[in-house]
Amino acid sequence: MPNNKIVRNKMELLGKLTASLTHELRNPLSAIKMNLEYLKMLEDELPAHINETVDSTAEALNRIQYLIENILDFSRSNGKGNSSCNINRVTSKAVEIINISVTSNFVLINLDLDEKLPLVKCDENKLLQVILNLLTNAIEACSKEGTISIETRRNDSNIFWSISDTGVGIRKEDIERIFDDFYTNKEKGTGLGLSVCKRLINEMGAKLLIESEPGVGSTFSITFSSDQIING
Ligand SMILES: Nc1ncnc2c1ncn2[C@@H]1O[C@H](COP(=O)(O)OP(=O)(O)OP(=O)(O)O)[C@@H](O)[C@H]1O
Ligand SMILES: [Mg+2]
Repeated sequence: MPNNKIVRNKMELLGKLTASLTHELRNPLSAIKMNLEYLKMLEDELPAHINETVDSTAEALNRIQYLIENILDFSRSNGKGNSSCNINRVTSKAVEIINISVTSNFVLINLDLDEKLPLVKCDENKLLQVILNLLTNAIEACSKEGTISIETRRNDSNIFWSISDTGVGIRKEDIERIFDDFYTNKEKGTGLGLSVCKRLINEMGAKLLIESEPGVGSTFSITFSSDQIING
């Protein structure tokens, strides 16, 4: 579909822009860090309230640097796919990134990860992008309070990854439209998150499914088939 191609180009362009922007941010941030370290050396000579300000600025700076490193990693995706992927590790990384960037939420994230999960054939960066999108949607669906549960498990032939939220849910008549490009009911949404997820999951050869009940919550799940499992 030509529309899909446009979205793909836009996303690739966005990826490149993000990579160069975050790269450019590194140097001024290092300069700020060095200045803070200098102030830290003068700790004994400075009043307590200044030292407190220096500490909280350093802490905020660490968070920014951590985020930037993650975004850089993320946009360095080699695009080759089919490398081996540790689903649990990617999941934990996504939760870590979200915990750092989302601070004003009372949403609890529970993880129930099967430790014996084998590796699967897929690109870790693409899976991270998918999980970040689904996790962001789940948090947004919970608005102020809620619980999100992420689970990994396997049966004889498949590996399952799922995310359930206790958010607003999705009406039956809207379920088919949520994967359309630019479909959104959020003021600041692009409506690209799920269409990108669907494309990436299809490229991996996996399946993305959804179950939802308005007022109760939603579950998005990814199924990896047996031919994607490595040394399983
Ligand atoms: N977990 C969820 N619970 C309830 N509704 C959801 C959930 N995930 C997605 N949706 C619905 O699907 C729509 C499309 O989601 P999608 O991620 O594609 O775009 P968005 O979240 O609106 O915007 P963006 O991802 O660009 O911020 C959302 O606007 C929302 O209506
Ligand atoms: Mg979204």
